[in-house]
Amino acid sequence: MSEHPSSTRCLDLSIPREFLRAPMTTGAVAASGRALTRTAVAPVPTGADVVVVELGPGTGVMTRSIEERLAGRGRQLALEVNARLASSLFARHPAVEVVQADAADLGTVLSERGIAHADVIVSGLPWAAFGPQQQELLLDAVLTGLSSDGVFTTFAYVHSRWTPAARRFRRELEARFDEVVVGRTVWRNLPPALVYHARRPVAVLEPSAASWHPSSAPWSGRDQPMTRSACRRSRTSSSRLCPST
Ligand SMILES: C[S@@+](CC[C@H](N)C(=O)[O-])C[C@H]1O[C@@H](n2cnc3c(N)ncnc32)[C@H](O)[C@@H]1O
Repeated sequence: MSEHPSSTRCLDLSIPREFLRAPMTTGAVAASGRALTRTAVAPVPTGADVVVVELGPGTGVMTRSIEERLAGRGRQLALEVNARLASSLFARHPAVEVVQADAADLGTVLSERGIAHADVIVSGLPWAAFGPQQQELLLDAVLTGLSSDGVFTTFAYVHSRWTPAARRFRRELEARFDEVVVGRTVWRNLPPALVYHARRPVAVLEPSAASWHPSSAPWSGRDQPMTRSACRRSRTSSSRLCPST
């Protein structure tokens, strides 16, 4: 499959158009550039049968790169909430399992397709545009859908990195993963951005767990309670499983 030409990206006005219609859901005025895309999809292995999930694929710049890396191996799913974008993605990427769905429903989407967990989750979701509850809900869905040795990759725009919403997202991310590596700033993106690679999920999150005790924990075998340091990093505790002391 040929590389996505940057000229096509410039001419594709879907993201600016959708931004005008729904700025808080679209979250960006332009699709990600090639340099950012390359960094974000780097964890997708080129020689293995893996399950890769993309959240918020938009016009599909990352979808295309993931498809190229998989080269027909494994499975590739893309969850896009916007019906117009999802249907155009479906038409352009017949080999990708495009689902018009909220990323919060990732667990259901995977189980309906007989998939236990994804090996890599790549997110294009506009985290800084989301409120606290939506950030938590979506991150919880990521944790539920990711295998214990999986990688979650997402990005943040440099100009909004220090906003309360972006900082809260970073805290929530670090509370849920043992390792969060922040890549170098991709200046050749409009706007400049940086990529987070998160590994080793530290907890399974049960919204119904008002009080937690090890004997009643619904571990799936791969999951562990949150580490004390992760709990300390976290300011809220509503949906987390922290040690009681
Ligand atoms: C900033 S665009 C990113 C598009 C593309 N991944 C890229 O990097 O250029 C964010 C995309 O996430 C989608 N989105 C926002 N909230 C979503 C949700 N809860 N579930 C699924 N997709 C969502 C938007 O419709 C939009 O297509």
